[in-house]
Amino acid sequence: MLPSQLLRPTGAQHQGARQPFSGGALAPRRCVDGARVRRSPGAAAPGASPAVSPAPKSESRSSAGKIAESAGKASGSRGSAMIDTQPPRGTRDFFPEDMRLRNWLFGEFAAVSQGFGFEQFDAPVLESEELFVRKAGEEITEQLYNFEDKGQRRVALRPELTPSLARLVLQKGKAMQLPAKWFAIGQCWRYERMTRGRRREHYQWNMDVVGVPGVEAEAELLAAIVAFFERVGLTAEDVVLKVSNRKVLQAVCARYGVPDESFARVCVIVDKLDKMPREKVEEELAAIGVPPATVDGVLGALGLRSVEELGALLGPESEAVAELGRLFELAEGYGYKDWLSFDPSVVRGLAYYTGTVFEGRDRAGKLRAICGGGRYDRLLAAFGGEAQPMAGFGFGDAVIVELLKDKGILPAPAHTVDDVVVPLDAALRPAASGIATRLRRAGRRVDLVLEAKKMKWAFKHAEKLGAKRLLLVGASEWERGCVVVKDLAAFEQKEVPVAELAP
Ligand code: HAM
Repeated sequence: MLPSQLLRPTGAQHQGARQPFSGGALAPRRCVDGARVRRSPGAAAPGASPAVSPAPKSESRSSAGKIAESAGKASGSRGSAMIDTQPPRGTRDFFPEDMRLRNWLFGEFAAVSQGFGFEQFDAPVLESEELFVRKAGEEITEQLYNFEDKGQRRVALRPELTPSLARLVLQKGKAMQLPAKWFAIGQCWRYERMTRGRRREHYQWNMDVVGVPGVEAEAELLAAIVAFFERVGLTAEDVVLKVSNRKVLQAVCARYGVPDESFARVCVIVDKLDKMPREKVEEELAAIGVPPATVDGVLGALGLRSVEELGALLGPESEAVAELGRLFELAEGYGYKDWLSFDPSVVRGLAYYTGTVFEGRDRAGKLRAICGGGRYDRLLAAFGGEAQPMAGFGFGDAVIVELLKDKGILPAPAHTVDDVVVPLDAALRPAASGIATRLRRAGRRVDLVLEAKKMKWAFKHAEKLGAKRLLLVGASEWERGCVVVKDLAAFEQKEVPVAELAP
């Protein structure tokens, strides 16, 4: 576009006309009768004939280009090698279109959490390394992004939110109102081997309940996960929530005389059964003093397919059986039993779980875990505090997007505004700015066109932004305290007093 080709609604008589109002303090003057005129998009406003007028220097593209060029010369930047524009391996950039999707997803996470009466918290992404150093040989510890800061402190980028939550609960101490229901959506870092849905940074939605010892907490957490799946259009045919209880494995280990202090390590090793050969698992167990015969017992228990079978193996007094039975009973009450499946092979690779454990999986079995969680009643004690019953889950932002994509139900949220405001003359820019301010104060989303543009461009632009209205600030209407408003859905336009622009 030639910068000299500016569009103005009325004749040149208004060029450089004194601005009747400025800034946000706009008051209407007499307007021409606001007769409704049916027009097609792209048609000019009534009496708005395109006119040519010289562009002010500041709005000329070519002079802006020249400034950039000379700035480049002055800083000696010409000829230097271009930086690598890709983000570090395993991390993501979020362009506006990606942010729209991310905001939609986080909005769904937050809406579900709030619907369940949970309050949001956050903590720094950078934490003390000691928060994540556990000696159970977990993958998460091996994948830690840790380093020494300039003050020689060992720090780490959080790989998960649970230890930070525990730290916050300990910090509050007796002042903490229990039970507490908290949620968070935060970025986590793990030096992972990258596969579909696993990256080196991801965002995790967490919901945790503090101070509730019964499986009522887990049942509520699972209900929230199901509510989320339903909101985004997934069904019990797409997704399964596999549930077990660490007490199953604990009972089996007790039979084989495995000492309590080795239990967390045993869980972490057994969790690898689907990732490494049995011999390797036996080797790792032997290395911590667990006899190979234990593996037979463990595998036998992991192969069970119903809580009834489990009852037959562990006996009716078993805590694992009682807790699982109660959980399924509650699930029935909530109405989400179809989504659950008892699966003792779910052990979870994190050392701190003490009771119920669960994982969300796609039924087709194509993807990694969608989410996972469970009960961890001893984490606060492990941090030197007073033990407190806790249960929660983590739900990543990566696998769910893959699944929604596969199912063809991933939304593509658009960038939209309510109004596009276009000054049709450089001299009317202050007036247009004031109108934008007035509309924004009224809560409307307003795109103010900042450069001299042709009418055709303005229409296309407003259409692209899904605007409901295009407001043309032209000299003669402005003289009367009015602007031309084009209703883009109804293909109508009328002259509206400024005071009536925002409801
Ligand atoms: P987690 O199973 O390690 O549990 O992670 C939870 C979820 O975070 C996974 O199911 C997955 O959706 C996502 N996730 C984990 N690592 C990655 C990765 N490298 N790339 C993409 N997504 C990933 C925990 O973190 C526990 N702290 C959850 C919890 C909260 N338990 C109790 N409260």
